[in-house]
Amino acid sequence: MIPLVDLAAQHAEVASEVEAGFAAVIGRTAFILGAEVEEFERSFAAFAGVSHCIGVANGTDALELALRAAGAGPGDEVIVPANTFVATALAVVRAGATPVFADCDDTHQLIDPRALRLGPRTRAVVAVHLYGQMAAVEDLVSAAPGIALVEDAAQAHGASRHGRQAGTIGIAAGTSFYPGKNLGAYGDGGAVLTGSDAIATAVRALRNYGGTVKYHHDVLGTNSRLDTLQAVVLRAKLRRLATWNAARRAAAARYDELLAGLPQVVRPRTAPGNEHVWHLYAVRVPRRDRLLERLLAAGIGAAIHYPVPLPLQPAFAHLGHRRGDFPVSERAAAETLSLPMFPHITAAQQERVVDALRAALEAA
Ligand SMILES: Cc1ncc(COP(=O)(O)O)c(C=O)c1O
Repeated sequence: MIPLVDLAAQHAEVASEVEAGFAAVIGRTAFILGAEVEEFERSFAAFAGVSHCIGVANGTDALELALRAAGAGPGDEVIVPANTFVATALAVVRAGATPVFADCDDTHQLIDPRALRLGPRTRAVVAVHLYGQMAAVEDLVSAAPGIALVEDAAQAHGASRHGRQAGTIGIAAGTSFYPGKNLGAYGDGGAVLTGSDAIATAVRALRNYGGTVKYHHDVLGTNSRLDTLQAVVLRAKLRRLATWNAARRAAAARYDELLAGLPQVVRPRTAPGNEHVWHLYAVRVPRRDRLLERLLAAGIGAAIHYPVPLPLQPAFAHLGHRRGDFPVSERAAAETLSLPMFPHITAAQQERVVDALRAALEAA
């Protein structure tokens, strides 16, 4: 079996640091926030090239708190792509605002700046840096002048566009450290990145019951802190992230070569100016569902990101969309197939994946 993501090899690299770090935290019995979290926040902010990183419990919370701190709330509309993970839109709803979906472009499956439905209540646009490459942030800013840009950088740790890193362009960004992400914890975790002192202060309060002084609560916050033990894991892995992202890039280049001989397979394209970090390697194929079945039967852990565009999910039925409203995202949802991708994938494993895909195409 070749899994979609193999975390065991990553763990082997950091195991001794993680075990020593866990022992130190347990020895101090100091499990909430503290030096480990602060040190990780400092190092991740430095890695991303932004002045503030605030660790929170997961990526969904990171986006919600970033949106709330950016002023989005009841009565506001926030534009999100139709083609993204559900959390992007859930965060908008949890902030009290209404998601307004935008279709994606056909070449990169990223939010299409020409598809924004702006109105008098538009408060923010969420640029989702999907699959590991950044959305066309500069075009989003020109298409929505004066509207706050918030980045969803959950799949884009270390990605950049025209030399500017994911998480440094919008007023704030939310990111996730879900285990399978390029920088993944051993449980849930997330962070808000921002260059704004005011947003950083607001998020620090919001994540900790709405205050920064114990038992004093300025606003209605929540409990959403990055776990101290997770900060141990993230510090150890962050030191290797650039190397691991480079290994993903090499693996993507190898897939590109191996797949060049399969004309039915549309390979993922990197937008000009983007440095891709290949969270996912998502191809487009005909008869996708049959191919997926055959790949799984052959022991290849392929997967679909994402099978149903958000406007057609029952959870968003109240927004009244129907099939045909977001044609590009709908087509992508029917054709997209993610192949196994992780830093330690070997050339031999990739050859097996492509051989299995070739056989599946011939049989389907
Ligand atoms: C694009 C995107 N946004 C948001 C999230 C939410 O992150 P989490 O699962 O940590 O809440 C994820 C990942 O799960 C994601 O892929």
